Amino acid sequence: MGKDNKDNVDEVIHYYHKTESRIGYDLFLAGTKHFGFYEQGDSPWNWSQALRKMEDKLGATLGLRKGSSVLDAGCGNGDVAAYTASKYGLRVSGIDVLDFNIEEARRRSIQKGLDDLLNFREMSYAALEFPDNFFDGVYTMETLVHAGDAKAVLGEFIRVLKPGGKIVLFEYSKDPDSLMSTRASKAYREVNYISAMSSFQRFEHGVLEQMLKEVGFHSVQVEDITENMLPMVRCFALLGKVPYAIGRVIGRPDKVINAMSAVEFWRYRKHFKYNVYSAVK
Ligand SMILES: C[S@@+](CC[C@H](N)C(=O)[O-])C[C@H]1O[C@@H](n2cnc3c(N)ncnc32)[C@H](O)[C@@H]1O
Repeated sequence: MGKDNKDNVDEVIHYYHKTESRIGYDLFLAGTKHFGFYEQGDSPWNWSQALRKMEDKLGATLGLRKGSSVLDAGCGNGDVAAYTASKYGLRVSGIDVLDFNIEEARRRSIQKGLDDLLNFREMSYAALEFPDNFFDGVYTMETLVHAGDAKAVLGEFIRVLKPGGKIVLFEYSKDPDSLMSTRASKAYREVNYISAMSSFQRFEHGVLEQMLKEVGFHSVQVEDITENMLPMVRCFALLGKVPYAIGRVIGRPDKVINAMSAVEFWRYRKHFKYNVYSAVK
């Protein structure tokens, strides 16, 4: 796959290849890389239940018929695609820029006997190798925050969607710097820089829904589900406290970036939202 600095791909690959990043996701989330959804009374430590509930939220919001073809843009190890295929009968094409994730996604889909519903390819969502009007649905699960030019990526998503097709995005947004203390805005800037989340830095509340409209989507809706995912952020912040403190003492917080982001996002949680965006072509 060619280099695509404009879309932040080299930085993304560098971040996800870091040992801490790989071990962290494997150890805590079995390689899946998204937050969970909690209902009242759910144990904050039951992560696999929370992950599946978030994926059910995705399936319900997509609301597509069995057999529909869907693009999972930034599919990671393919767990979300596998769940939506097995539970909702969707035919999912997963793409990601991480070669080791695509290999793992293929391996898991064969192991689960889902390879007739799933296919995975190494590709950037900034340059989709699919024809126009191809998919019934497109979704992202915590990936568009990495885009160098999110509006251009939304342009690619609307191109590959059939007329009437549905887009669903699970993405964060934040307060503008003017509403944050200097310490809080510095923390967001540093975490977003180290984690290659250049679009999160620009996704102030309201920006992504405006972009969806500007590229031509209609029926744009946004649901704020921050309260439903905060229990997992809190767990990670508790676990990350000591590693982050050590990282700061040795002057290398970037070495413990997952711990750093958990602690800082928990500390400044009033400044971000976790949203489910949906819209129609
Ligand atoms: C936080 S992880 C989420 C992975 C998966 N959606 C999940 O929920 O487990 C973000 C993913 O987006 C992928 N990604 C980032 N930029 C991308 C791009 N330009 N094209 C495709 N995938 C990208 C990363 O490689 C990473 O696997």
